[in-house]
Amino acid sequence: MLGNVSDLVIDAVDIGLILLDGDGGIVGWNEWIARVSRRPARDVLGKTLYEVFPGARATRLPGVIHDSFQAGSSSILTHTLNALLPLQGEGGEPLLHNIVVRPVSSPQANYCLLQVTDVTSAVTRERVLRERQNARYHAIVDSAPDAIITIDDRRVIQWVNGAVDHVLGYRHSELLGQKIDILLDPDNSLLPVLAKASTTDKAETTISVIGRSKSGTPGHFDVSLGHWRADQRDFVTTIWRDTTERVAADAALRDARDALQKSNDELETRVEERTREREIALRQLHESQKMESIGQLTGGVAHDFNNLLAVILGSLGLLKKAVPDDPRVSRLLDRAIQGAERGATLTTRLLAFARRQELKVEFVALQKLIPDMLDFLRHSVGPNIVIHAEISPDVHGIEVDANQLELALINLAVNARDARPQGGSLTIGCYNEDNGKKVGLPPVPFVCVTVTDTGEGMSEATLARAQEPFFTTKGIGKGTGLGLSMVQGFTAQSGGAVRIKSEPGKGTRVTLWLPRAKENLRAPNNKTGVSRPAEARSLRVLLVDDDILVSMGAADMLLDLGHSVTEAQSGIHALKLLETDSAFDIVVTDYAMPGMNGFELAQRIKERNPKLPIILATGYAELPADRPIEFGHLSKPYTANDLAAALEKAINS
Ligand SMILES: Nc1ncnc2c1ncn2[C@@H]1O[C@H](COP(=O)(O)OP(=O)(O)OP(=O)(O)O)[C@@H](O)[C@H]1O
Ligand SMILES: [Mg+2]
Repeated sequence: MLGNVSDLVIDAVDIGLILLDGDGGIVGWNEWIARVSRRPARDVLGKTLYEVFPGARATRLPGVIHDSFQAGSSSILTHTLNALLPLQGEGGEPLLHNIVVRPVSSPQANYCLLQVTDVTSAVTRERVLRERQNARYHAIVDSAPDAIITIDDRRVIQWVNGAVDHVLGYRHSELLGQKIDILLDPDNSLLPVLAKASTTDKAETTISVIGRSKSGTPGHFDVSLGHWRADQRDFVTTIWRDTTERVAADAALRDARDALQKSNDELETRVEERTREREIALRQLHESQKMESIGQLTGGVAHDFNNLLAVILGSLGLLKKAVPDDPRVSRLLDRAIQGAERGATLTTRLLAFARRQELKVEFVALQKLIPDMLDFLRHSVGPNIVIHAEISPDVHGIEVDANQLELALINLAVNARDARPQGGSLTIGCYNEDNGKKVGLPPVPFVCVTVTDTGEGMSEATLARAQEPFFTTKGIGKGTGLGLSMVQGFTAQSGGAVRIKSEPGKGTRVTLWLPRAKENLRAPNNKTGVSRPAEARSLRVLLVDDDILVSMGAADMLLDLGHSVTEAQSGIHALKLLETDSAFDIVVTDYAMPGMNGFELAQRIKERNPKLPIILATGYAELPADRPIEFGHLSKPYTANDLAAALEKAINS
């Protein structure tokens, strides 16, 4: 056929060469094709290709060979799309091959050349490579912590990764072929999104859903979706990330933040409240400090006044006896005595406000005391004011100074009258209160006495100042401004408190909180000690007072009562006199004296002479609360009658 060298080359190449003539007969067949087809050239030359490879008829070869002769066109047939010739490698394995078909022309004739190339090793290498890549891809996808599920356009699960096991509790075989719906509640937000995603290319999104694992427990998932197409089918790949723990942590964080916010808010309001309370407390403290210093001032003044009034009253009393019976003189004297007595009432109020009143605390049954004084009250307020008493029958007994309580009620009744001069009503009520805490008193039971009127009431400004001493709206000469001060001082000194509620036009209610008696005795109110005339016996009295004026007044009274008097100006002086003269029947001593006070003197005397009666005269509550009761007592200012009664009591006890 061709020259010798060419034959050598043709037989040496690593591709198969088959040359066909115009009739389809094989005219060329090199060594390589002879080897892989197991047909030597001598067997095939002169035969047609289809006689040698009958199966080739059913391939695309006849067509492209025809085209090569007719149209002079070249073609390539690859192993992937065509099963071509039954060729085998050395070991008998099928040989994968591509065939290039091209026309070859010489001046004598047209031929068709088939070049057969072995692609087995390239294809194998490629397959190994692809398999390795696939394995890597699977390893990556399966080792992903998120479940990856691919569904088709009917939501049927086509593919899942390994993570579905731990994320959703399903093995893969359990999910393949199922609808994705089994992982979702019917009314979840994922299905509508999926419906859209399977038709739109751009539907890539992430949504949060509540999914159900195999055990049925709901869990939170972030599901991201990606749409893709293959072989004209739509798929959606969903990646499920379990966010249950994160959602729980977020919720816990939110709760904690809310709780923190709430407690911050509470703290703020509490701080505001505390600040407000503190301001109120400071104001109250300021108020009470003011009252305290006014109290000390007025108490001191009242004390000195008391001494002077004692002198005046004592002297006037004696004068009245001494001067001849002249109506004009005795009228003047009476007026002077009345004036001095009113002064004494005033100092009593001042002392009460200053809480320096000498209180004679005793058991008081309000069921008796109040009805007993109604007549007197009616008399004090006049016919225009109607007075009722509403006393609950079980009201407990109290422990107060009955006289002072009466005085307080009179002051309140008079205030009510003044608030409604044209007439109105006044109600006195009494009831038990179980706990003093609500008015800042100790948490023990109290009894409340209320005085309620239908008068004009008080403005806020008046109410704020009503209990201040000397505060009055009644004009100069009409009110002293000491009524409520007395009431307030008395209740405070008794261990209670006063509360006033009042509004302009709506009347006023004053409530006295008074300490409940420990035992609810039904003791009679033995208020007024009627002084009996002093015993006829004449006594030798040692009178001790540092104030000469007071001492002289008292001495005159004692002399008038028929006693003999020795005066001492101090405790030391008195002790000296007692040392030299033991014939005294009784000692009457002032309490407030410089150096040794009356109480100390009385104790010293008692040490030496326990039988000698002693009377302490005091202007206000100066005596220690625990003073021994064996000493007699006289409140200044005192009248001759008071003095006589005290002497008698001391001598006889
Ligand atoms: N029941 C009341 N109704 C209206 N205002 C009252 C009432 N009680 C007291 N007030 C007001 O409080 C002020 C002080 O009262 P307080 O009893 O201390 O003194 P006063 O009544 O003015 O003087 P006094 O008691 O010496 O007559 C009164 O002037 C009055 O303005
Ligand atoms: Mg008054």
